[in-house]
Amino acid sequence: MKLSTRLLNLLTAVGCFAIAGIAIAYFLINEKFEWIPEAALELVHEKELLERPEAKRCSECHKDIYDAWKDSRHSISWTSKTYIEASENRTKEKCLACHIPESVTGEKPSPRLDRRDEGIYCVSCHFINGKMNGPYDLVAPPHPTHRNPDYVNSRFCGSCHQKTFKEWKETGEEDTCQDCHMPRTKSRLTQKLPLSLLHKKKWVGNHKFLHGDLNDKNILMEAEFNKKFFNVSLLNNAIPHAVPTADNGDPRLYLYLTFFNAAGEQVDQAKEIIAPQQETALPFNKKVNFRYRLFDPTDQVDIVLKYQPAWSKEKDLVWEKTVRRKSK
Ligand code: HEC
Ligand code: HEC
Ligand code: HEC
Ligand code: HEC
Ligand code: HEC
Repeated sequence: MKLSTRLLNLLTAVGCFAIAGIAIAYFLINEKFEWIPEAALELVHEKELLERPEAKRCSECHKDIYDAWKDSRHSISWTSKTYIEASENRTKEKCLACHIPESVTGEKPSPRLDRRDEGIYCVSCHFINGKMNGPYDLVAPPHPTHRNPDYVNSRFCGSCHQKTFKEWKETGEEDTCQDCHMPRTKSRLTQKLPLSLLHKKKWVGNHKFLHGDLNDKNILMEAEFNKKFFNVSLLNNAIPHAVPTADNGDPRLYLYLTFFNAAGEQVDQAKEIIAPQQETALPFNKKVNFRYRLFDPTDQVDIVLKYQPAWSKEKDLVWEKTVRRKSK
C-alpha cells in the first residue's frame, strides 16, 4: 500500500515536471528564443543535417512538406523521361544548372555532382551558408536557420524560371509565383514528436508546386460571324505570365474549330497551336485574334481548347463552346 502511494507521488511529481518542462520549452521556443544560449542549441543540433543529406532525411521531421515535394515536378527534374530524351540522355552540359542545382540564390544556379536523382531537392533550395534558410525567424533545435526574405519573392523562382519571371515582371502584377503555385495553409512545419508539440502552427506553402488550372474564367473566348469570315479571340485575363509559359519545355494549347452548315454537315475544320516555343503563347491581358475565311455557307462552329503539359503526350480538355450564326 505504502509503496504504491509513494510510487503514485513520484509519478505525479515526474508528470508535473514534464508538463512544466514542455510548457517552458514551448514558451522559450515560440516567444523568447533569443534567451536560449547559442551553446545550448549547438548541443542539440544534428550535425549530419548540414552535410547536404538526401530529402528522406528531412522527411523525418518535415514529413508533410516532403510528401508534397515528392509529388512535384521538381523532385523528378533529373529522372523525367521527356527531360532525358531532350537532353540527349543527360549529356548536355548546359542543361544541368537548373535541373540538378547545387544551391538556389536568385542567380542562375551551378550544377551539383552528388544525389542527382533527387533533382531539385530540399538542400538545393534551403541550404545556404551552413544554415537552413527560409521565410521565418524561428529556432529549430535540430539545425541552424536563417530568415531570408527572398523565399516569398518571385525572383527566387526566377533563378530558373527565367523567361516566366520576365513575363511576370512585365505585367506589374503583385501576386507572386508562391501565392499561386505554393498556396499557404496554417499547419505544423514538423510532424515528429515532441517537436510538433513544441512549435506553434505557422503558414506552410504547398510544396507540390501546383500547376494551376485553366478554365473559361481565365482564358476567355469571343467569336462572331462577319460576312465571309469567322473571327475568334482568346484572352488570358488572369494569369500574369504567358499561357502556356516555358523556359525549355514545350507545353501547348490546341484550339480546334469545326465548321458546320445549316444541315449539320461538317464543311471545314481548323487547328491552332498556341505555344511558347512557337512564340504564339497568350500574353497577359492582351487579346489574340484568329480569322477564318468561310468558303461554304456556315451556320455553326464548335470550338475546343485543349492543354498539353511539357512532360506529357496527353491533351486535357480546357473547355468547349458552340457558336451559332444569328438567324436573320
Ligand atoms: C530532427 C528534426 C528535423 C530535421 C531532420 C530537419 N528539420 Fe528543418 N526544422 C525543424 C524544426 C523543429 C523547425 C522549426 C519548426 C517551427 O518553428 O515551426 C525546422 C525549420 C526548418 C526550416 C524553416 C527555416 C526558416 O527560417 O523559415 C527550413 C527551411 C528547414 N527546417 C529545412 C530543413 C531541411 C532542408 C532539412 C533536411 C536537410 C531539415 N529541415 C531537417 C526540424 C528538423
Ligand atoms: C533550381 C531551378 C528551379 C527553381 C529555383 C524553381 N524551379 Fe520550378 N521547375 C524547375 C524545373 C527544371 C522544372 C521542370 C521539372 C520537370 O518537369 O522535369 C520546374 C517545374 C515547375 C512547375 C511545374 C510545371 C509544369 O509543367 O507542370 C511549377 C509549377 C514550378 N516549377 C514552380 C516553381 C515555383 C513557384 C518556384 C519558386 C518557389 C520554382 N518553381 C523554383 C526549376 C526550378
Ligand atoms: C524549388 C525550391 C524548393 C524546394 C525543392 C523545397 N522548398 Fe521548402 N520552401 C521553398 C519556398 C519558396 C518556401 C517559402 C514558401 C512560402 O511560405 O511562401 C519554402 C518554405 C519551406 C519551409 C517553411 C514553411 C513555409 O512553407 O513557409 C520549410 C520547413 C521547408 N520549406 C522545408 C522544405 C523541405 C523539407 C523540402 C524537401 C522535402 C523543401 N522545403 C523543398 C522552396 C523550396
Ligand atoms: C495569379 C496566379 C499566378 C501567378 C502569380 C503565377 N502563376 Fe504560373 N500559372 C498559373 C496558372 C493558373 C497556370 C496554369 C496555366 C498554364 O498552364 O499556363 C500557371 C502555369 C505555370 C507553369 C506551367 C507551365 C505552363 O504554362 O504550362 C509554370 C512553370 C508557372 N506557372 C510558373 C510561374 C512562375 C515562375 C511564376 C512567377 C514568376 C508564376 N507562375 C506566377 C497561375 C499563376
Ligand atoms: C535556366 C534554367 C534551365 C536550363 C539551363 C534548362 N532548363 Fe529545362 N526547364 C527549366 C524550367 C524552369 C522548366 C519548367 C517548365 C518550363 O518553364 O519550361 C524546365 C522544363 C524542362 C522540360 C519539360 C519538363 C520535362 O521533364 O519534360 C524539358 C524537357 C527540359 N526542361 C529540357 C531541358 C534541356 C534539354 C535543357 C538543356 C538544353 C534544359 N532543359 C536546360 C529550366 C531550365
